[in-house]
Amino acid sequence: MKIDVVLGLQWGDEGKGKIVDVLAGRYPAVARFQGGPNAGHSLHFEGKSFVVRSIPSGIFRKGSINIIGSGVVFDPIAFRKECGQIEDFGIKPQDKIFISKKAHLILPTHRLLDAANEAAAGKGKIGTTNKGIGPCYTDKVSRHGLRIGDILAPDFKERFEALKARHIQMLKDLSYDCDPDKEEKDFLEAVDFVKSFNLIDCEYFVNDLLKDKALLAEGAQGSLLDVDHGSYPFVTSSSTTVGGVCTGLGVGPSKVGKIYGIFKAYCTRVGSGPFPTELFDETGERLRQIGHEFGAVTGRPRRCGWLDLVALRYTAMVDGVTDLIMMKSDCLDDFDTIKVCTSYKIGGKESQVFPFDTREEIVPVYKEFKGWKRDLTGIKDEKDLPKEFTDYIKFIEDYIGVPVNIISLGPDREATIEKK
Ligand code: IMP
Repeated sequence: MKIDVVLGLQWGDEGKGKIVDVLAGRYPAVARFQGGPNAGHSLHFEGKSFVVRSIPSGIFRKGSINIIGSGVVFDPIAFRKECGQIEDFGIKPQDKIFISKKAHLILPTHRLLDAANEAAAGKGKIGTTNKGIGPCYTDKVSRHGLRIGDILAPDFKERFEALKARHIQMLKDLSYDCDPDKEEKDFLEAVDFVKSFNLIDCEYFVNDLLKDKALLAEGAQGSLLDVDHGSYPFVTSSSTTVGGVCTGLGVGPSKVGKIYGIFKAYCTRVGSGPFPTELFDETGERLRQIGHEFGAVTGRPRRCGWLDLVALRYTAMVDGVTDLIMMKSDCLDDFDTIKVCTSYKIGGKESQVFPFDTREEIVPVYKEFKGWKRDLTGIKDEKDLPKEFTDYIKFIEDYIGVPVNIISLGPDREATIEKK
């Protein structure tokens, strides 16, 4: 069987949580393959809401297996808290969550280093989520990291102390004033809690499952935040694009099936970095209010702008997307005119290529659409969608060269139309 993939095609916050939750009912297993608690996937079901961070979005589906893969960075303190909230829903996390022994551990001092690096960067700061993601991946690549499987070793405490001592020296070098011991007790207790879970050899586990079951891989962040292909250096530290599925879970590319690319009908970004279609006027503010565009993890107001098809075609290409999924279309219900960016003007020249350096002065060139001016939220059948809306979608499909097969018209599971 195949592993299907859900990826965000913009700068994150496209609504992956809702779609994974909708699709999860069709897959016996859902796997996270990269990122960590910097993600915040919002789920809305049966009148309830929940934000998952490290735990895959399939957790609330009956009978589903949820895998935290090798490419993930894992914060035991955050995970324990999240599990506590899930238990309140009557779910026993130990029965449903399987954690790769090769996932890397986020220490409390990784979080301090994240804050220290940002403070030292001044105006050039990335605007990270402060969850220790960058410092943890840095330790992984420089081969200093600790992994989940290490918690079972008799000398784990000594190895933890050695890494902590290294971090304390780095914090001193950055003249960052903090208490590196503050969360140590919580961390070690949380590590003991993690021992009560199934710690797996992810590669064997996933490939064995694939012998007779289909899997869904859940991307976190968005493709424009990919460390290789995104708007570097204003990116996260992992492979958020399709290649991350293979490296993060230990599966070959021939096992990958459908690649669902999710985008919002407009664009948002949190943190610093280039955003060619960003709106600084009242239209941007209107999108923020209607779309409730405030970070699920940090609460920060998200920057808002029109849909950028140059960037979207680029990420759909990098990810080899087979099916597009459009989110939050209903947020545009009340607009007289809707714009999409179809090319960039850079140094007076028009181009449809996402440039090497997105910090260059980019002037977006827009195509305007007449708004549909109708409430889309209650529509259940694609035949009932207004013509202005279907024209808008057709234009996007033709531009990207991939069909929009799922349209989300509201936060609830039920407010979803699948095209036949
Ligand atoms: P980090 O992943 O915390 O290192 O943050 C790096 C950049 O990615 C910052 O601009 C963050 O705002 C952004 N980022 C990280 N995770 C997410 C996410 O889940 N949604 C949106 N942006 C994110």
